[in-house]
Amino acid sequence: MNKSLSEIFNSYPNPSPDLLIPLLQDIQEMEGYLPHDILKEVSRFLNVPMSSIYGVATFYNQFRLHPPGKYHIQVCRGTACHVYGSTDLMGILLQELDINVGQTTSDGLFSLEIVSCIGVCGLAPILTINGEVYPKVTAENILQILSDLRSKANNK
Ligand code: FES
Repeated sequence: MNKSLSEIFNSYPNPSPDLLIPLLQDIQEMEGYLPHDILKEVSRFLNVPMSSIYGVATFYNQFRLHPPGKYHIQVCRGTACHVYGSTDLMGILLQELDINVGQTTSDGLFSLEIVSCIGVCGLAPILTINGEVYPKVTAENILQILSDLRSKANNK
């Protein structure tokens, strides 16, 4: 077990299945996603079967089972962003990237996640990419954003 994982486990002195979600949140913060090998350790630590852990990890949008892409795209599905077209933007991204929410493209370049309102509703609809906010994104410029990021990645 690596040091950071044992530190996380040590911060939960009374392991119980109720701790599964906070523990998964800590691991995702440490690793960027939930690696299978670490989930096995969690299963032993909390005495929770792997099937239950995967059930929880796939139920909540916040959890990722694959490493995030070089460009991690988060689409806001809060009310304002929804009203201003986030569903259309998500549709374009799903089609263009050919992945589902929570997945990463096979070239490792893009991953996709849904988030709730991040508090900049006046700029709706927004995306964030690696934490940077892209305001008032339209169906037209989302393709340009992807194309710019692909070029940037290829020129490195
Ligand atoms: S609803 Fe998208 S930032 Fe608030």
